[in-house]
Amino acid sequence: MLRFLCFASCAAFCAAQSDRQPVATPPAPSFAFLTTPLPGMPKMPLPAYEVSEAMFELGRRLFHDGALSRDGSVSCASCHLLASGFAHPDPLPPGIAGQRALRHAPVLFNRGYGTRQRWNGGSATLEQFVLEPIADPREMGSSVDAAVRRLRAQPRYWKAFTAAFGRAPDAEGLRRALATFVRGIVAGDAPYDRFLRGEADAMTKEQRHGQWIFESKGGCWRCHTPPLFTDERFHNTGIGLVAGQPAGGHFEVTGEPGDLGAWKTPTLRGVRLSAPYMHDGSLPDLETVVEFYARGGNPNRHLDRRVRPLDLSPADKRALVAFLRSL
Ligand code: HEC
Ligand code: HEC
Repeated sequence: MLRFLCFASCAAFCAAQSDRQPVATPPAPSFAFLTTPLPGMPKMPLPAYEVSEAMFELGRRLFHDGALSRDGSVSCASCHLLASGFAHPDPLPPGIAGQRALRHAPVLFNRGYGTRQRWNGGSATLEQFVLEPIADPREMGSSVDAAVRRLRAQPRYWKAFTAAFGRAPDAEGLRRALATFVRGIVAGDAPYDRFLRGEADAMTKEQRHGQWIFESKGGCWRCHTPPLFTDERFHNTGIGLVAGQPAGGHFEVTGEPGDLGAWKTPTLRGVRLSAPYMHDGSLPDLETVVEFYARGGNPNRHLDRRVRPLDLSPADKRALVAFLRSL
């Protein structure tokens, strides 16, 4: 009887609270996450060199500094905005001299756990990747050598590089500082995680229904595998078809025809912040993404067999969106 009363009062309470939907708010980047993962997240693999807080703080400064670009106008942070989950609200973010990047800027959460960088997997490690935007003619339009020269011209960078690496600004220090800062950008310990840890009211009933769809008839977990909500693999969902045919994707790295149109599964951590979605930024919001999966993606000759029409009611779709917002 007592149990029934508790349940009844909770049901009433929850119904009254149904507008109040707990949503994920990722923490500010911090060096601490390299050694102390958020609850429920795995230990982060670290590079062979020793990382330090001085390296992280230098990386943070460099990430926000236009000095890495040819004319000082573009920083890493101008395409990876904190408020957009380190993605960018434009489908293709703005680069140097009025140009646009080739692809949508992905969120940078949990890249320290990543095994390949870029939507097509074209960069093996963070260390390899982080200098590439500097020389990209559409993005920062410079060269690593020229960027290092610009840093060497600033006494404050002499000081910060010396504190972090015991030497003047150079390409290796730049690489390590940027990679160390990016590792400190994480997301986790969201309403979803708190619910798993036993906080029964951390998610609404609707969000729990969405979780059930994610794990059952939606089949989302097969590629967006918890706790990182990515398998770090490449799949063809049919986004970015050219005249109905799959193009680009992991094929650009492997040359295997089966990899045509297969792009890296992005994490869904902090995904509520990072609209628009997909490697080309072609889907404007989470509702559209869910409709896309419900109709079975965009059929093509290499469509992943896990992407197929789903039997989802309007309430199921709303619940799935509510769940995604809790990650
Ligand atoms: C002009 C916009 C722009 C600038 C500037 C920029 N990025 Fe990016 N970033 C992107 C785009 C677009 C991608 C996806 C590229 C691809 O998939 O080929 C990306 C991808 C990444 C990735 C890989 C993420 C993943 O999931 O694979 C990391 C890490 C990253 N950027 C960090 C940085 C850092 C560090 C800087 C500064 C040195 C930087 N970015 C500058 C637009 C930008
Ligand atoms: C076969 C593997 C696979 C399955 C199953 C799958 N996804 Fe995805 N998901 C991907 C890939 C790959 C992308 C990126 C596609 C692209 O950009 O071309 C993606 C992108 C997304 C994005 C956009 C994220 C961003 O940052 O742009 C969301 C949201 C998403 N999926 C949610 C879901 C949901 C919800 C389900 C279940 C209904 C689901 N996915 C099922 C592989 C999968």
